[in-house]
Amino acid sequence: MNIIVHRLTSVSSTNDAALRMAADDVPEGTVVVAREQTSGRGRLGRAWASPPGDGLYLSIILRPSIAFDCVWQIAFVAAVAAAKAVRRVSGLIPGIKWPNDLLLNGRKVGGILVEARPDAEALVVVVGIGLNVGNTAFPPEIAETATSITLESGRPVSVEQAEDVLVASFEKVYSAYLREGFGLLLAEWREFDCTAGRQVSVVSGGADVKGTAEGVDDSGSLLVRTVDGVVSVSAGEVVMRE
Ligand code: BTN
Repeated sequence: MNIIVHRLTSVSSTNDAALRMAADDVPEGTVVVAREQTSGRGRLGRAWASPPGDGLYLSIILRPSIAFDCVWQIAFVAAVAAAKAVRRVSGLIPGIKWPNDLLLNGRKVGGILVEARPDAEALVVVVGIGLNVGNTAFPPEIAETATSITLESGRPVSVEQAEDVLVASFEKVYSAYLREGFGLLLAEWREFDCTAGRQVSVVSGGADVKGTAEGVDDSGSLLVRTVDGVVSVSAGEVVMRE
């Protein structure tokens, strides 16, 4: 994969910019990085606070030869790549909270938003990754739950350094996934899984599934042991209950 980075000062969302560029036939490996997003987007319709300064906001355009119903695997690829990058720059072991939140010491340090479009010729996938790199303060609504690489590690990591390590990590993990398949990638994802064995509450499509998380199955669904048996959850938000 040939990486070509486009740097923007300010954009609504790097995912939006990447989806627009993808429609203009830019090649796989095109990366859009912005210093600031004015409408950064998160999973489940949420906003992603993206002020200029100490956050990394980037999107990577992919054109994988996979079926549309395997696109969810790319989010797992991105989570492993981002976890390895955070481990490298912070010297700490991050956790992945299903499906792809990145945590340091139980607080959210990064998030991933994968969006896909079946194109006329091929599938286009945009992988958006947001990382809190040098942030020392957050908006009140996430102040209790968010953290940054610098806050947890005490290391003065720059956004540029985090970007370089993240892009290199993504390239490596994505190539290995294309070469070796999803099995190996899922094994790596499980090593970072910080949800397994925990008491969780998963809000999914209006239902609230409570129980013990038992890891993910081969289709990426979260398995939760409830009083009524094991429930498989394919989308939603996990809250750890202890
Ligand atoms: C989440 O945890 O809800 C996912 C957050 C994803 C944020 C990134 S920042 C770069 C890219 N552009 C966006 O608008 N969102 C993603």
